[in-house]
Amino acid sequence: AIDISKLRDQSGYITLDPGFKNTGSTKSAITFLDGEKGVLTYRGYAIEDLADKSTFLEVAYLLIYGELPTKDVLEKFRADIRSQMMIHEDMKNFFAGFPSKSHPMGQLSCLVGALSAFYPESLNPNQTDEEENKMIINLLAKMPTIVSWIQKKSLGHPVVYPKNNFGYIENFLNMIFGEVNQEKTFDPVVIDAMHKLLILHADHEQNCSTSTVRMVGSSNANMYASISAGINALWGPLHGGANQAVIEMLEAIKNDGGDADKYLAKAKDKNDPFRLMGFGHRVYKNFDPRAKIIKKACDDVLEKLGVQDPVLDIAKRLEEAALSDQYFIDRKLYPNVDFYSGIIYRALGFNSDMFTVLFALGRLPGWIAQWKEMRDNKEPIGRPRQVYIGENLRQYVPIADRK
Ligand code: ACO
Repeated sequence: AIDISKLRDQSGYITLDPGFKNTGSTKSAITFLDGEKGVLTYRGYAIEDLADKSTFLEVAYLLIYGELPTKDVLEKFRADIRSQMMIHEDMKNFFAGFPSKSHPMGQLSCLVGALSAFYPESLNPNQTDEEENKMIINLLAKMPTIVSWIQKKSLGHPVVYPKNNFGYIENFLNMIFGEVNQEKTFDPVVIDAMHKLLILHADHEQNCSTSTVRMVGSSNANMYASISAGINALWGPLHGGANQAVIEMLEAIKNDGGDADKYLAKAKDKNDPFRLMGFGHRVYKNFDPRAKIIKKACDDVLEKLGVQDPVLDIAKRLEEAALSDQYFIDRKLYPNVDFYSGIIYRALGFNSDMFTVLFALGRLPGWIAQWKEMRDNKEPIGRPRQVYIGENLRQYVPIADRK
């Protein structure tokens, strides 16, 4: 008889690293991060410089093609994207089918995956560079439009079409907050904060959603399908869903009397599953360099918009208390980028269930760059192993004899 336990023991060594805490899955030339020192670079450029001096599309180009674009190249890239922002009218049928309160992330993953139906040439794994570029432009151009349609549907409002004379962020915000015959303009502080937010989220090496994009793409699945899978991975509250979870946690604390210390104690109680959302990071164990930049943008936006929000007072109290609490100090738990991003999005008027969709919009160039790198490097299909701990070989029991 087959002895599974013996076979298992003879099957050679398997590296077991649950959660891949210390396992590299690839060599990559895109993003470098040092969690101890709080360093993050895209293609060798410091995140602080990029957030301060570049636009989101400039950074998208850098991540995807490896170099900062010249003025002419950037203008063509922008023009190509602007020309493809419309989505096929038949996509409206998908929107019609969703219940109006369905979560935006579910809608987004479905609609991005559905793009492959409208661009069937994407199914060919041996595409030319030109065909691949078409997918890249399509995704960068159409995702803001899809996101804005999701928002409009949730309100029962008619969609606002993209405008050819608007910048990328201005177009997006107008499609979200403008009306059909009433364009909306935005304070430069708001536009700047949106560029920064998207830039800071644009890539973060082999995190859960990016690894998913590479893993799905490694089977030669098309780029739309791979990114749709990444969107689903991002949805969870331990990853991209944290920005929504932060605001919901702050709301819950407010509705429970506003006692931040009570929730701090809950977070430290090992018998309580509650965690302080927006604190801690798998890789950053000193501080999250993105959080530093976004905290400043957050202060600027709140001051400019004159926002008074009791939820923000709770956020401040939590931040101060956690930073001086031994439990958080010992475990090197600091506010991450999502502690602040949700606060800005809320101040701008986004519903909390749209926050993770905005994260996805920012992460899109990173997913594209990582998918492209994986293909360009002709990486093998991803296929981890396991250590089997189940039953040894068992005698099959016919249904009539089972107890
Ligand atoms: N609140 C309270 N305690 C925490 C928290 C938290 N937010 N995060 C970690 N801890 C504690 C753990 O209970 C554990 O304590 P122990 O050593 O006494 O058992 C210790 O800190 C280490 O935690 P791990 O879960 O092992 O850390 P890991 O690296 O696996 O998890 C994660 C990182 C998932 C981000 C975690 O810190 C967390 O759940 N944070 C809240 C969710 C969140 O903000 N996610 C956003 C991540 S950023 C992003 O996706 C862009």
